[in-house]
Amino acid sequence: MSDPKDNKGKAPEAPKAEDAPGNKLSTKAVEALLESNAALKNELAGMDKDKAAEALRKMDIAELLTGLAVGGKNQKDMASYKFWQTQPVPRFDEAANDAGGPIKIIDPEKVSKTPDTLIEGFEWATLDLTNDDELQELWDLLTYHYVEDDNAMFRFRYSKSFLHWALMSPGWKKEWHVGVRATKSKKLVASICGVPTEVRVRDQKIKVTEINFLCIHKKLRSKRLTPVLIKEITRRCYLSGIYQAVYTAGVVLPTPVSSCRYYHRPLDWLKLYEIGFSHLPRGSTKARQITKNHLPSTTSTPGLRAMEAKDVNAVQDLLERYSKRFALNQAFTREEVEHWLLHKEEAGKEQVVWSYVVEDAETHKITDFVSFYNLESTVIQHPKHDNVRAAYLYYYGTETAFTQDQKALKERLLMLMNDALILAKKAKFDVFNALTLHDNPLFLEQLKFGAGDGQLHYYLYNYRTAPVPGGVNDKNLPDEKKMGGVGIVML
Ligand SMILES: CC(C)(COP(=O)(O)OP(=O)(O)OC[C@H]1O[C@@H](n2cnc3c(N)ncnc32)[C@H](O)[C@@H]1OP(=O)(O)O)[C@@H](O)C(=O)NCCC(=O)NCCS
Repeated sequence: MSDPKDNKGKAPEAPKAEDAPGNKLSTKAVEALLESNAALKNELAGMDKDKAAEALRKMDIAELLTGLAVGGKNQKDMASYKFWQTQPVPRFDEAANDAGGPIKIIDPEKVSKTPDTLIEGFEWATLDLTNDDELQELWDLLTYHYVEDDNAMFRFRYSKSFLHWALMSPGWKKEWHVGVRATKSKKLVASICGVPTEVRVRDQKIKVTEINFLCIHKKLRSKRLTPVLIKEITRRCYLSGIYQAVYTAGVVLPTPVSSCRYYHRPLDWLKLYEIGFSHLPRGSTKARQITKNHLPSTTSTPGLRAMEAKDVNAVQDLLERYSKRFALNQAFTREEVEHWLLHKEEAGKEQVVWSYVVEDAETHKITDFVSFYNLESTVIQHPKHDNVRAAYLYYYGTETAFTQDQKALKERLLMLMNDALILAKKAKFDVFNALTLHDNPLFLEQLKFGAGDGQLHYYLYNYRTAPVPGGVNDKNLPDEKKMGGVGIVML
């Protein structure tokens, strides 16, 4: 089973028998783990394949996934990351260290005013995404070269409206939309982008750049262009006085602050089956799978309605209080809430975000909200389907979270999230994806989300803090005792 998200940390609908609770890693999962963990691969090199797999099965999955399993040999681990070992990021062996804060103090005077030179034939570009032609160029690069699954069956297909939304949030800076062009043809061949925001890391509020859309044209891979791109956006951030960043990746790098797992809830099971996203579990039938995933046609939370402009203040207040329950969370301004959550109808623009609030009939207070965004993938070379529409669970919040009654919170979220599934189905999504962050372990399995086979690792640049839980236990399954860590959803 594969999904573009495998590379950014996601995967199939139906947990395969060997991935089921309490069972061991499948051979494919072992191979995938080794692919994403250079240090481990080195450790196990030369060992017989079956023996290596057996050794891996005995290790702690959570540690494996975060690259921490190689015990006292971390010198060598770090040494295999030729670029990342030079960067202000925590080393693997520092992960348990509690003392938090910036790793390197940056003197703005000493930051170079000019970019590093690129390999011959290429030049730096700053993308002007307010210009439709340049937005189109970025769209073209990403549509044909961005994240794919390992089997090259699916590739992310961010819409132009999505790129506009993701890259022009309040305070956005043109300088942080970095491109590389071929000098002669001026063709855009690589990108790395950032937007400014503030995050709280264990109560320390820090200004950061959210990094996204690192992409290199397929013909320019493995030429060490990534480090050059990362150094360039870092330089541009430093020059703007921002010295920290947050980013996610499906690959293990030094050193994840947390690791979450993707879960998938089929909305159109048959289509997912036809495109090879979902499998038919042994002993089941297509009809049974369709029935299993069937949803009611109407929502059940009283007072649930689409979010409107008048709800922005109430949603911001609830989101801020809800977010602070997580060690790593995003601090939202009113403008950010409006930008990220409020859909504004615009002619010729696709809808990107769907947000709903629950208004109490008597007090008219907003007691809950939930949102999801649209991220399609191209189905590569399929005779019947050319895309898959995925809804990704985005931010949500509920007053029930402050009652200290976990059972009540679980019940509330089961109802709210089932309604979100119904609304996504109505909006013609094929699948609903969610990570194990926020309070998601309370409802994922009960609402028939299937375990993905990828992880999403969270990273902080130039900031050190002890790891935070990613909602999964040492069997990599959702665990209510592992909540309270990640409260940031990255696109
Ligand atoms: C990810 C991608 C840019 C890497 O390019 P590449 O040509 O394979 O790698 P390069 O030779 O340029 O650079 C290798 C270095 O980049 C690092 N690297 C690879 N992927 C990375 C990522 N997603 N984030 C940060 N660093 C990464 C490697 O670890 C290596 O550094 P190291 O020596 O310290 O280990 C490229 O494969 C790509 O565009 N993939 C599709 C889009 C994608 O997956 N983007 C990342 C989304 S998180």
